[in-house]
Amino acid sequence: MNFSVILTTVGILAAVSAGLSVIISVADAVLNNYGTCQLDINNGEKLLSVKGGSSLLSLLASEKIFIPSACGGKATCGLCKVGVLEGGGPLLLTEEPYISLEERKQHIRLSCQVKVKTDMKLRIPEELFNIKEFLCELVEVEDMTYDIKRLRLKLPAGESIKFKAGQFVQFYSKPYGKVREEAFRAYSISSKASETDHLELLIRLVPNGIVTTYVHTALQVGDTVRLSGPYGDFYLRGDCEELVMIAGGSGLAPIRSLVYDVIEKGLPHKMRFFFGANTMRDLYYMEEFTQIERDYPQFKFIPCLARPAPEDNWQGVTGFVTVALEEQVADSVSKEAYLCGSPGMLDACIKILKTKGFTDETIFYDKF
Ligand SMILES: Cc1cc2nc3c(=O)[nH]c(=O)nc-3n(C[C@H](O)[C@H](O)[C@H](O)COP(=O)(O)OP(=O)(O)OC[C@H]3O[C@@H](n4cnc5c(N)ncnc54)[C@H](O)[C@@H]3O)c2cc1C
Ligand code: FES
Repeated sequence: MNFSVILTTVGILAAVSAGLSVIISVADAVLNNYGTCQLDINNGEKLLSVKGGSSLLSLLASEKIFIPSACGGKATCGLCKVGVLEGGGPLLLTEEPYISLEERKQHIRLSCQVKVKTDMKLRIPEELFNIKEFLCELVEVEDMTYDIKRLRLKLPAGESIKFKAGQFVQFYSKPYGKVREEAFRAYSISSKASETDHLELLIRLVPNGIVTTYVHTALQVGDTVRLSGPYGDFYLRGDCEELVMIAGGSGLAPIRSLVYDVIEKGLPHKMRFFFGANTMRDLYYMEEFTQIERDYPQFKFIPCLARPAPEDNWQGVTGFVTVALEEQVADSVSKEAYLCGSPGMLDACIKILKTKGFTDETIFYDKF
């Protein structure tokens, strides 16, 4: 085959594929043109006209109604539940693991999986209407460890965020490098709930992760960051005398906010904070928590290193955080547990807490 035949063949194939993609996009536009759909929320409390064809989650967000979501719409967090009374079609396979039998009876759906194709009747909890969107300025970035950055974000002048210590915000990354689209993920607020004009986040780099790679490689001080929030039910109940707090990695973020909340409000609770890490290079905020321990006798800080390196000269607790928990928490009497970190670590800790009498009503957690 000579060179001109190869070129002609490639040219024909390119023309055919371009033709096909035009046909597909025209067909998509025609077949998936759902026109304007009416969303009736809470029996006429809000009536919205939206252009059909996208997920309920994203269409509600475009109307400034923010439904909690941690996975960016990938059907892996199960947080984006709303009641879809009419117009949602059948429950999808992707939704099934997250919707209990009781929730099915109440027509609960994952809003990221429901596509708006027709008029719908929805039921959305009132408190979600208080969630706001903020365009913040990134004013500080600090390396806390080799893979965790602290971001300090300033809210626009005159705006403030009211949140409960322990809650999270949704952080929107912009297109960068080969990532063509905006993405959003959940990040717990690590700063004090009393500080309402700034927010701090602790973001650990996940290799090949879309949003954390954006934060660690593309985001610059001075950039504008879009956030929405606050979200979540990980916050202090405090119906007890002692709080057992457990975190690993960036799971320290909401615990830091909780600790300051108890102190600033002058609450009487004793606090024991178990912070699990591998080696010394994974520890951070050590000086700050040690200082809090000196200043407030009600607070005890227990960092645990699973695999301290010889050069770490580690004098503290050695072993997994579960070992320290087993040894240092005798029972569950008048205690609540607050946990944040990886699913593996949390599951292991929850198992131990339950052997000590803690129940689903006294254990609160955010897994990430
Ligand atoms: C309520 C809540 C609060 C959270 N708060 C924080 C916080 O304060 N700080 C923080 O750093 N993160 C936090 N997260 C996790 C965060 O939302 C993202 O999931 C995480 O940062 C990864 O996002 P990404 O876009 O970089 O990775 P993605 O692009 O979503 O994922 C890339 C790949 O990494 C895997 N992956 C995703 N997450 C992890 C992980 N954590 N560890 C290992 N592999 C993973 C995925 O399966 C995928 O294969 C929180 C999550 C929840 C649900
Ligand atoms: S947004 Fe995570 S499951 Fe819907």
